[in-house]
Amino acid sequence: MDNNKKLFGIAALFDTPDLIINAARKTASAGYKKFDVNTPYPVHGMDKAMGLKPTTVGYVTLFFGFSSAAFILLFMWWTLSINYPMVIGGKPFFALPAFIPITFETTVLLGAVSTFLGILAVYFKLPANSHPLHDSEYMKAVSTDKYGLVIETEDPLFDINGTKDFLKSLNPSSTELIYYPPKEVYALFQPRFMILLAVVALVVSVSTYITLNKLLYITPYGWMSEQDKYLPQKKSDYFADGFGMRKPVQGTVARGFIPYPYSGQTEPKEVLSNPLLPTEEILALGKRKFLTFCSPCHGNTADGDSRLRGQFPNPPTLHSDKVRNYPDGRIYHIITNGQNAMPSYAYQVSREERWAIINYLRVLQRAKNAKATDLTSINKESGKNAQ
Ligand code: HEC
Repeated sequence: MDNNKKLFGIAALFDTPDLIINAARKTASAGYKKFDVNTPYPVHGMDKAMGLKPTTVGYVTLFFGFSSAAFILLFMWWTLSINYPMVIGGKPFFALPAFIPITFETTVLLGAVSTFLGILAVYFKLPANSHPLHDSEYMKAVSTDKYGLVIETEDPLFDINGTKDFLKSLNPSSTELIYYPPKEVYALFQPRFMILLAVVALVVSVSTYITLNKLLYITPYGWMSEQDKYLPQKKSDYFADGFGMRKPVQGTVARGFIPYPYSGQTEPKEVLSNPLLPTEEILALGKRKFLTFCSPCHGNTADGDSRLRGQFPNPPTLHSDKVRNYPDGRIYHIITNGQNAMPSYAYQVSREERWAIINYLRVLQRAKNAKATDLTSINKESGKNAQ
């Protein structure tokens, strides 16, 4: 036996699962704490026999989960109420409900990642990758058909002779002393090699720096980032007004965009005229859009019986003589531009849909103000149909 080696522990091999369970139970009740069991497959009831407590890894997750929730909440509070306060959708700066998804995701992500790293670093003691058991006969046996138990020297009860006798009393097929493997000095860490490494690192960094920062900037080379151009929001010394960003040239129209000539006017002197005929499809479209976008305030029949009563100023009826006498273009103007409390619906309702809504509104108005002549014309028509 080589006395210079440091002892890791004493291992004992057993032939059957019953013997190992029994051995584990007796070792635990003898008061040993620093011992482990290795079996070729999981043996049920082993945790209990060894007297193992539930793992503490949950506390690691809990700690880092709470810490990251606190961190991200603080971070969002700092960015959104201190560093860059902006009103978004009318919410307060510290809008807790809006922060919940990010807080939740961050808690889960950092909780999981830190649990994983915690297990590697704390529980597996990485980067220690040369466990004394690795090269032993014991490990060969327990990874094929034997059941093993190791009591480590770190255990306060450990005493070379006493522990060996104790193990022998458990009826093992054999026992083995396990030593720490000798420490190897890798050629890597010798001074000459380290100096070489440093020189290589220096040469590589200096030449990379010179190539990327000096050589490549010499004409005819150039970088895309080095262009003569203005970035958005940048100041300009060239233009008289000092703005880098220019306004569109007067009279230009963006592709696919049809300008509305009377936008911003409260009482336009001229208005557009309705390009749509009140066909069945157009009226159906108008009805659908009216019920979706107008009826919440104006009511299903445009009487002004708002469903938003108490939340929004009630609109007037659209059956007034005033609105009935409005040209279609005036109503189009109100939908496009808004009027007083009524906001613009230009973004929700397309141009064609606006005209369709107006055609439908005319139907509603006529239905509420039907005249005797309307009836005769219907009679005439139905009479015609009957023939
Ligand atoms: C959010 C509620 C709301 C919605 C939705 C709404 N309106 Fe209005 N509307 C109003 C209010 C309030 C007024 C009265 C504005 C004022 O005081 O001039 C009004 C006025 C009008 C008027 C002018 C009435 C008048 O007597 O001058 C017309 C026409 C009109 N709305 C049509 C529509 C159409 C068509 C839609 C659907 C595209 C629509 N509105 C959707 C609230 C609404």
